[in-house]
Amino acid sequence: MKLWGGRFNKEAAKILEKFNGSINFDKRMYEEDIKGSIAHSKMLSKQNIIGKEEQIKIEAGLLQILNEIEAGKFIFDIKDEDIHMAIEKRLIEIVGEVGGKLHTARSRNDQVALDIRMYLKKESVEIEKLLGRLLKGLVDIADKNKDVIMPGYTHLQRAQPILFSHHILAYYEMFKRDLERLKDSYKRLDVMPLGAGALAGTTYDIDRHFVAGELGFPEVTKNSLDTVSDRDFIIELNFITSMISMHMSRLAEEIIIWSTSEFSFVSLDDSYSTGSSIMPQKKNPDIAELIRGKTGRIFGNLMGILTVMKGLPLAYNKDTQEDKEGIFDSIDTIKISLMIFKEMLITMKVNKKNMMKGIENGFINATDVADYLAKKGLPFRDAHRIVGELVVYCEMNKKRLSELKLEEFKGFNDLFEGDVNKKISIEECVNGRKSYGGTSIESVEKQIKDAKEFLKK
Ligand code: ARG
Repeated sequence: MKLWGGRFNKEAAKILEKFNGSINFDKRMYEEDIKGSIAHSKMLSKQNIIGKEEQIKIEAGLLQILNEIEAGKFIFDIKDEDIHMAIEKRLIEIVGEVGGKLHTARSRNDQVALDIRMYLKKESVEIEKLLGRLLKGLVDIADKNKDVIMPGYTHLQRAQPILFSHHILAYYEMFKRDLERLKDSYKRLDVMPLGAGALAGTTYDIDRHFVAGELGFPEVTKNSLDTVSDRDFIIELNFITSMISMHMSRLAEEIIIWSTSEFSFVSLDDSYSTGSSIMPQKKNPDIAELIRGKTGRIFGNLMGILTVMKGLPLAYNKDTQEDKEGIFDSIDTIKISLMIFKEMLITMKVNKKNMMKGIENGFINATDVADYLAKKGLPFRDAHRIVGELVVYCEMNKKRLSELKLEEFKGFNDLFEGDVNKKISIEECVNGRKSYGGTSIESVEKQIKDAKEFLKK
C-alpha cells in the first residue's frame, strides 16, 4: 500500500509507477532528505508537537537509514515513488508507528524544495572549487609563457600581434565572472523553504528559523506559495553552468584550431589526446571536442527547465519534478569537464616558434605603420589609406612592411623617417600597447598580479 493510499480503492496502474516516480534520479538527495528530516523532527519536539522520546526514535531510525544507504543495503524501489517516500516508509518499518509522526506539519512540496536547495548548495561549492583550480591553471600558463608573442585575430584573420599570455588571461576574466556569478547565486539558494507546507503554511506552531539554524541557512523564505513553486535558483544554476560551458567551448575551439598542422601553435599532451582507429598518423583533440560538444546538453537542460516553468500556475505542480534530471546532468557534466579541461590545458605544449611564424606574414603591424604617421600629425584616415597602398606595394614586390627601405616608405609619404623600422617592429607593436588592459608585458604583469591576489582569497 502506498503511504498516500487511504483515499484510493484501487492500486495505481503499473505503468504509472515508472512514469510518475522520480526515485531513480532523486535518490541522490538521500543525505539532504535525512538531514532535513532530522532537523524537522527536532523542531517538532522543541515545539511539543511530538514527544522528546519520539524524536529520539525517529532520529535514530533516520540515521540507521543513512547507514543502510551508504552501505549499499537500502532498496530503492520505484513503487515508493520518490526518495522522500522511500525513506519515510523505511522509517516506519524500523521505528514503527511513531515514524508516521515525522511528516507532521510538512508536505513533500516543501520537503523537496529543501532537499534540492541543500543539494545544490553542496554542488555549487564543488563547482566553485573546480573553477578556482581552472583559474589558477590559466594564470600559471600565462605566467610561464608571459612574453610569447602570437598573432591576435579578428574575424579569424590576423589582426595585431599580442602576447599569448594576454590571450589566455582573457579566459581568466571570463571564468572569473562565472565564479562571481556562482557566488552571487548561492545567496538565493541559501534560503530555507521548509514550513511552507503543501502551499499555504501550516496550522501547527512551528519554528522555521530553528530549522534554518539547524541546517545552516541564514534565512527562511517569506511566501509559502512562492516557496513550493519557485525553481529560479535551479534555472540560475542551469544558466551558470551554460555560461561556464560556453566559455570552455570557446577556448576548446581555439585549442582545436591551434593544434591543427596548419597552425601548430600548441601540441596537446599524449595523455590528453586520442588516436584514430584507421589513420595511424593522427593525434586527435577529442577532449577539447567533447568539451565543446557537451555545451549542447548543458544548453538543452537550461531550455528544458525554462520551458517546464513557463506556463505553471501557482503553486506546486508535478511538472516541477522535471527540474532535477537536467540540473543533475549539467552539474555532473560541468564538474568532469572542468577537471579534464584544466589538466588538458596545463599539460599542453606552447609552440613559441610557430606562433612567431604566424606573425611574420600578414602585415600584422600595418596598424602601427598608420599610427606612426598619425602620431606625426597626419589624420589617421589618411594614414590608413597610405598604409593600404603600402600593403599593395609589398604584396606586389613580395616584401614585408619591416623589410622596406626608408626611400620606399618615403615614396608614399614624406613623414616617414629613419626610426620607422624600429617603431613597427613586432616587439614595439606588442609592448607599445600600454593602454590599461592592453597587450603590453606591463599590462600582462599587472593582470597576473591582480589574478594571484584574487586567487589567494
Ligand atoms: N517527487 C516530487 C518532486 O520531485 C516530490 C513532491 C511531490 N509532491 C506531490 N504533491 N506530488 O517534485
